Amino acid sequence: MKTKGLAILLAFLHLQTTPITGQLRSELFSNFNGSLDDHGICTCSIELPDTSFPVQKVENLEITAHALTEKFEKELTKVKEYTKTMQLFEQRLLNLSMRIQVMEESSIAYNKLDFELLKLEVNEMQKLVTELKASFAGSNVIIDQLELEIRNMTLLVQELESLDKNNILAIRREIVTLKNRLKECEEFRGQNNTDPFIPPGSCGHGGVVNISKPFIVQLNWRGASYIYGAWGKDYTPQDPEKTLYWVAPLNTDGRYFEYYRLYNSLDDLLLYQQAQNFRVLYGEGSGMVVYNNFMYFNFRSTGDIAKLDLNTNVITLRRTLPNAVYNNRFSYAGVNWQDIDLSVDESGLWAIYSTEASAGNIVISRINDTSLEVLNTWQTIQYKPSVSNAFIVCGVLYAIRTMNTRKEEIFYYYDTNTKKEGRLSIIMDKKLEKIQSVNYNPLDHKLYVYNDGYLVTYDLSFQQLQ
Ligand SMILES: *[C@@H]1O[C@H](CO)[C@@H](O)[C@H](O)[C@H]1NC(C)=O
Ligand SMILES: *[C@@H]1O[C@H](CO)[C@@H](O)[C@H](O)[C@H]1NC(C)=O
Ligand SMILES: *[C@@H]1O[C@H](CO)[C@@H](O)[C@H](O)[C@H]1NC(C)=O
Ligand SMILES: *[C@@H]1O[C@H](CO)[C@@H](O)[C@H](O)[C@H]1NC(C)=O
Ligand SMILES: *[C@@H]1O[C@H](CO)[C@@H](O)[C@H](O)[C@H]1NC(C)=O
Ligand SMILES: *[C@@H]1O[C@H](CO)[C@@H](O)[C@H](O)[C@H]1NC(C)=O
Repeated sequence: MKTKGLAILLAFLHLQTTPITGQLRSELFSNFNGSLDDHGICTCSIELPDTSFPVQKVENLEITAHALTEKFEKELTKVKEYTKTMQLFEQRLLNLSMRIQVMEESSIAYNKLDFELLKLEVNEMQKLVTELKASFAGSNVIIDQLELEIRNMTLLVQELESLDKNNILAIRREIVTLKNRLKECEEFRGQNNTDPFIPPGSCGHGGVVNISKPFIVQLNWRGASYIYGAWGKDYTPQDPEKTLYWVAPLNTDGRYFEYYRLYNSLDDLLLYQQAQNFRVLYGEGSGMVVYNNFMYFNFRSTGDIAKLDLNTNVITLRRTLPNAVYNNRFSYAGVNWQDIDLSVDESGLWAIYSTEASAGNIVISRINDTSLEVLNTWQTIQYKPSVSNAFIVCGVLYAIRTMNTRKEEIFYYYDTNTKKEGRLSIIMDKKLEKIQSVNYNPLDHKLYVYNDGYLVTYDLSFQQLQ
């Protein structure tokens, strides 16, 4: 369409620049047919479009051609401008990509997800620019759209450029605040009808019936290569207002637990700020848990539980969990070195493990958190190495298994209150493939999941008692 338009335009331009001479006039009327009749007389017929010479029409033509030339030149200038703008824009995009890359490589404290998102956006814009450039042969409508889009993209790039670390984290914080407010709204609505409101720490419900979508909080502080570990929020029943978050990425061997961090608030955690860094020797696996300001974990290469005072980072007690297997004998499916998985529920500390006598089936023990003595033990018929993880809520063990790379299923329960066990099916979406650890907090009814390096939470819903 454009090409044809241009051809006509050029024809007009040619007309316009050619003076109307006698020659032109004769050319205008030179194209007619003649014929010889029976008498050898040549007759010609000319069909004149007008009775007189169409001076008026030619003049009109001239005017139109002139207008078209002007328009064409204006368009040409515009196209040149667009091209310049786009080249500039392309350069800026390239620059931005490079800068993001440098920033990303220089600090692991940045939230990886945010930058991946930014990079994605930049890449998409780059693709768009290339496409737009290619479509320049097209019509005016496309050129007009292009102008808009370039303006939009430029704005976006400027916005991206002004985003520094704090801004990005501030935005995440904003999102978290909004999500929390939404959650509050949902909880408020829940009080009315749909989701029963269960007071913090209460067991006045009929067990877990559903789980929310995962909420990615952040990448662990040691970086994306620390895919093994655990995290959670301390449960101190006497001080429910307290917010102590702990993050414990294992060393990259997936075995040794050596470094952990504490944050006194969710904001600090989100901004990776005011973190207290600690080192502890002799930790193994990602089965640790925090309860009452103490961390409990499996002491390296033993069947012992160690109790670590988080105020002093000193191991105050160590005791063998009787008959528990260790050294990766019966860990979880796809997660090594978690033979002894410590757990906290409304009533306190638990251990989820196996013994040789149980032949790998899950054994649950209620642990006295003061003395680390076993208070009671239950045998299940669920083979531990076939579940991906487990947690305890109100004395009921829930086991999870992997369905595929995107979904897990809470598929089994054992109720220590009634010694009943059975099947259930609650589908749990996940962002990355492996659930490395799961820790339940009785106050907020959330699961704190370490998902291949990312800290993720889920909200549990409980069955309302009639
Ligand atoms: C002249 O004759 C040819 C062939 O007969 C025809 O195609 C053409 O349209 C004629 N031109 C005019 C101006 O009548
Ligand atoms: C990228 O942009 C910054 C700021 O606009 C500028 O200082 C720097 O020289 C640019 N780098 C390149 C490679 O163009
Ligand atoms: C430009 O941005 C505005 C507001 O963000 C949007 O409404 C509009 O659709 C965008 N235009 C194009 C062509 O992308
Ligand atoms: C509960 O919901 C119903 C309808 O969904 C509404 O009419 C009622 O006002 C709500 N009650 C409270 C206490 O919000
Ligand atoms: C369970 O939760 C998921 C995710 O929030 C939701 O899509 C689904 O409808 C819920 N199922 C039931 C039975 O409430
Ligand atoms: C836990 O151990 C402490 C110290 O030995 C003891 O005082 C307390 O009574 C025990 N608690 C239970 C519930 O057995």
